[in-house]
Amino acid sequence: MRPITNIEDLRVLAERRVPRMFYDYADAGSWTESTYRANEEDFQQIKFRQRVAVDLNNRTTRSTMVGQDVAMPVALAPTGLTGMQHADGEILAARAAEKFGVPFTLSTMSICAIEDIAAHTSAPFWFQLYVMKDRVFIEKLIERAKAARCSALVLTLDLQVLGQRHKDIVNGMSAPPKLTVKNMLNLMTKPRWCWNMLQTPRRQFGNIVGHATSVSDLSSLSAWTSQQFDPSLSWDDVEWIKKRWGGKLIIKGIMEVEDARRCVDSGADALIVSNHGGRQLDGAPSSISALPPIVDAVGSRIEVHMDGGVRSGQDVVRALALGAKGVYIGRPFLYGLGAMGEQGVTRCLEIIRNELDLTMAFCGLRDVRAIDRSIILPPRAPD
Ligand code: FNR
Repeated sequence: MRPITNIEDLRVLAERRVPRMFYDYADAGSWTESTYRANEEDFQQIKFRQRVAVDLNNRTTRSTMVGQDVAMPVALAPTGLTGMQHADGEILAARAAEKFGVPFTLSTMSICAIEDIAAHTSAPFWFQLYVMKDRVFIEKLIERAKAARCSALVLTLDLQVLGQRHKDIVNGMSAPPKLTVKNMLNLMTKPRWCWNMLQTPRRQFGNIVGHATSVSDLSSLSAWTSQQFDPSLSWDDVEWIKKRWGGKLIIKGIMEVEDARRCVDSGADALIVSNHGGRQLDGAPSSISALPPIVDAVGSRIEVHMDGGVRSGQDVVRALALGAKGVYIGRPFLYGLGAMGEQGVTRCLEIIRNELDLTMAFCGLRDVRAIDRSIILPPRAPD
């Protein structure tokens, strides 16, 4: 096999190994995918200032996110259906993150349950919560996350209504996937993936099935979830959830200064500048372009994190230079998982840390916490 040198290599391998409907589910953006593309492209506009003849011994990428020590300020983003990229995907990714010393965030919409992750890891992980209409269900999920000793709750606010991805519609993708003849044929083109799935005990949407008040089996799950995202979600709900949770709270899906100020008022510990990886509002700006005004407005009062389009350690440095205290990766670790399971997630993290460390060094820094705007050039005025 060709050596894996960057995240793109993992993406290509994942595309080869994961059935089309699940690869597309992970990779796609909504509608025209313009925001999805901008997330990646806008990083490339940010140029570094190279420094020389600086002592570069004893470098460190260690930092903190919401007060927790991290080997580098990069967390695995919550991603639904991760177990469809590779059998037991959530457990494998959580293990890789634990060994590496970075946070893993389990999605509400994961295949493995909160308890499965707790049983297979020893480091505390983070839990991501969607606000569903069924508040009893939300309360139960919060209690389960507490019982599993989750050390932060990531509350996603940008999914009151569901974005539309054309590729999912064309592929007949749903949660849970329906076993149509077309889908079965699609799965059979990837025998290695099928073999892995057959080898692994069935775990299916363990956060929801049997726990939500009206979901007792998989057939009712799809109908239940699609009508459960709450269009009436408000900042009062954030306050209600914060009270019930009582621990570190990170609010995800913030793109505007006004909403960032509401996060500060809510008493959250951090916010994530995020457009859901270009999967919700197509036509929104890239996350990296939305970051600086938010940092300027609230950065001294709340930790500002970001995600969307990070494809290298260089992008991590760019985000930190623009004031992010931490960065999340979604698709990069999913590609790693689809390509090579746990080993692929580890490889993804190694690649990012190595690029982060070297870029920091080329910019004349030894400590990731010292990265600031002075290491990048000001944006060029248009000609
Ligand atoms: C997501 N994302 C997401 N976010 C969330 O809060 N809960 C979720 O269940 C999901 N599910 C999900 C599935 C898949 C397949 C993807 C790719 C993304 C959004 C995710 O947390 C993060 O915001 C983006 O993935 C960041 O962009 P990149 O790193 O994928 O470019």
